[in-house]
Amino acid sequence: MSFPASPSDPATPATDSLAGLRASIPGYRLGDPTLSRSPITLQELDLLKTTVLLTDEDVGYLRRAGAILAPQTEAILDVWYGFVGQHPHLLHYFSNKSDGAPDLEYLGRVRARFGQWIKDTTNARYDQAWLDYQHEFGLRHTRAGKNRTDNVASVDHIHFRYLIAFIVPITATIEPFLARSDAGADEVKKMLAAWTKSVVLQTVLWSYPYVKPGDF
Ligand code: HEM
Repeated sequence: MSFPASPSDPATPATDSLAGLRASIPGYRLGDPTLSRSPITLQELDLLKTTVLLTDEDVGYLRRAGAILAPQTEAILDVWYGFVGQHPHLLHYFSNKSDGAPDLEYLGRVRARFGQWIKDTTNARYDQAWLDYQHEFGLRHTRAGKNRTDNVASVDHIHFRYLIAFIVPITATIEPFLARSDAGADEVKKMLAAWTKSVVLQTVLWSYPYVKPGDF
């Protein structure tokens, strides 16, 4: 079964409701017209989508995955935060630069935006607003933008190696949540494949600030 996405798909909130979301989730900026423009063009984005084999059919499976994952958002975040919390080398990036203690308020604020990101990943329209926010996500993982959103005094840069490595836990852990539905095994497999392509695509876009000028 396929789940074609149409341009009139109501899955992504309209601009007005995005403004409402921005107000309720501190630091959330999808659709914010004051966000810097991505250095990547929509044409380059299309070529990347082609390269990760992200098709319209995948976009349909992402929409279907969204309906299954959205009600499980907190449980998914518990798994991801549990993973980070169990590994001091990862928890380090949420910790105070001064004394190395985890900043619980920082963890909580990022968690709220992480939950919205699950929804935005399954609802993505791949338009200019989405692309611009992708660039912002990348900056927020580097010394160019980390800590700025929440005005915290944490370590100032997430090392690139972990950005790439994190693709594995962010994708592998999603499968049981997709399976916790009335979807058949084949549908779960296709939803997971679409999720994985989307996460790889986003991680590529977030890599921009890490790469030497001219090399991206
Ligand atoms: C596939 C790789 C990754 C994904 C999909 C991902 C996802 C996200 C998301 C959705 C946010 C919230 C962004 C926002 O709206 O502000 C975020 C922020 C953050 N992530 Fe990641 N992340 C990845 C890799 C990592 C790694 C490896 C670490 C290290 C533990 C990490 C630590 C953080 C921190 C500290 C923030 C807050 C940054 C800030 O100060 O604004 N992330 N990440």
